[in-house]
Amino acid sequence: QTGHFTYDPGFTSTASCDSAITYIDGDQGVLMHRGYKIEELAASSDYMEVCYLLLKGELPTEEEKTKFSTDITYHTMLHEQLIQFFRGFRRDAHPMAVMVGVVGALSAFYHDSTDINDPHQRMVASYRLIAKMPTIAAMAYKYSVGQPFVYPRNDLSYAENFLHMTFSVPAEEYKISPTIARAMDRIFILHADHEQNASTSTVRLAGSSGANPFACIAAGIACLWGPAHGGANEAVLTMLEEIGSVDRVQEFIAKAKDKNDPFRLMGFGHRVYKNYDPRAKVMQETCHEVLDELGIKDEPMLKLAMELERIALEDEYFIEKKLFPNVDFYSGIILKALGFPTSMFTVLFALARTVGWVAQWNEMMEDPGQKIGRPRQLYTGYAERPFVPINKR
Ligand code: SDX
Repeated sequence: QTGHFTYDPGFTSTASCDSAITYIDGDQGVLMHRGYKIEELAASSDYMEVCYLLLKGELPTEEEKTKFSTDITYHTMLHEQLIQFFRGFRRDAHPMAVMVGVVGALSAFYHDSTDINDPHQRMVASYRLIAKMPTIAAMAYKYSVGQPFVYPRNDLSYAENFLHMTFSVPAEEYKISPTIARAMDRIFILHADHEQNASTSTVRLAGSSGANPFACIAAGIACLWGPAHGGANEAVLTMLEEIGSVDRVQEFIAKAKDKNDPFRLMGFGHRVYKNYDPRAKVMQETCHEVLDELGIKDEPMLKLAMELERIALEDEYFIEKKLFPNVDFYSGIILKALGFPTSMFTVLFALARTVGWVAQWNEMMEDPGQKIGRPRQLYTGYAERPFVPINKR
């Protein structure tokens, strides 16, 4: 097809799969979704358009976008009985534990009506997941702070609805600033998909066995929780709070370089990017926009993060190891300024990444040659040896 190319990595590929959804050039710091650069999508598109693009392969027309957004909006409500699942958790349960549990529980509500061999039913399940994640995420937050759940509204955009369900209370609607809603939408775009990262590979592997998509996404959420992956945005804030001030930055840079110290500079480094993560640049710009809008542009955490970045990028270890800020380095500062507790940061990552997970799951399910994933190993254990009865051991 015109415009499509076969990317020759120039090495014997150890690729886990073929995919036409997202392209990353780690050396050049390039990220594209279906051929569109992330910088352009973040600047000129919105999350609903990016969801349509990831799922269907093309940017929608006005009419297609309106129908898609409406279809998503009319799936945002949860089955009322699912509320019981939240009440089983302790109030101080980590919201990611709640997400894994409640999203997995969606299987019990929709599994029987989801024939994964029917493309239409796969798409309905995908729409349900994209639509319900903000509702579940907001409910996880409300439950953790002891406030009543707030139902979704059909007159709000995807990002506005999430902010409304999270921060409105019966006594007072959350006043949605267009700048904040736009920033929230852009944060969702920046997290939407990222090729075969650990959690996406988890979703694909789970899906390859024929498991239902709700269970597969719950598996993806569990994998994303790790601090080396999506949990890093929460870990960055914890790290910045521990560093506390600019005069302690060098001490922590030294810890990060010390092979005997397990400390890693959170929000820095990437398995694929050996250049600046293009999402981090947009996230930093968004951080300035949000803090300006909130009248806290002198937020000490931002100043500390920028000084940490400046020093690290001038350090020969970080230069030699090609370690740059990644998507998680600035996102937490924005989310904290918006009023989210650090425990909700990875929940927002999972919310936004759901479209990438379901797009990749659909791509795998559409492949007629798809087989169950079955990674192999290099065996390093004993050669064969005779059994020894216990009285002779
Ligand atoms: C995400 O895969 C994806 O696409 C993920 C993601 C997505 O959108 O799905 O982009 C989201 O997970 C971003 C990454 C978030 N995690 C963090 O910010 C945690 C801090 N980062 C590190 O834990 C680390 O950079 C990883 C886990 C992200 C990558 O680790 P790797 O695969 O070991 O990185 P590498 O092989 O390039 O490391 C090269 C060297 C190693 O030292 P040596 O073995 O060569 O001696 O650099 C070191 C690493 O130990 N190193 C760091 C470091 N990151 C790597 N040293 C100090 N601080 C760091 N942050």
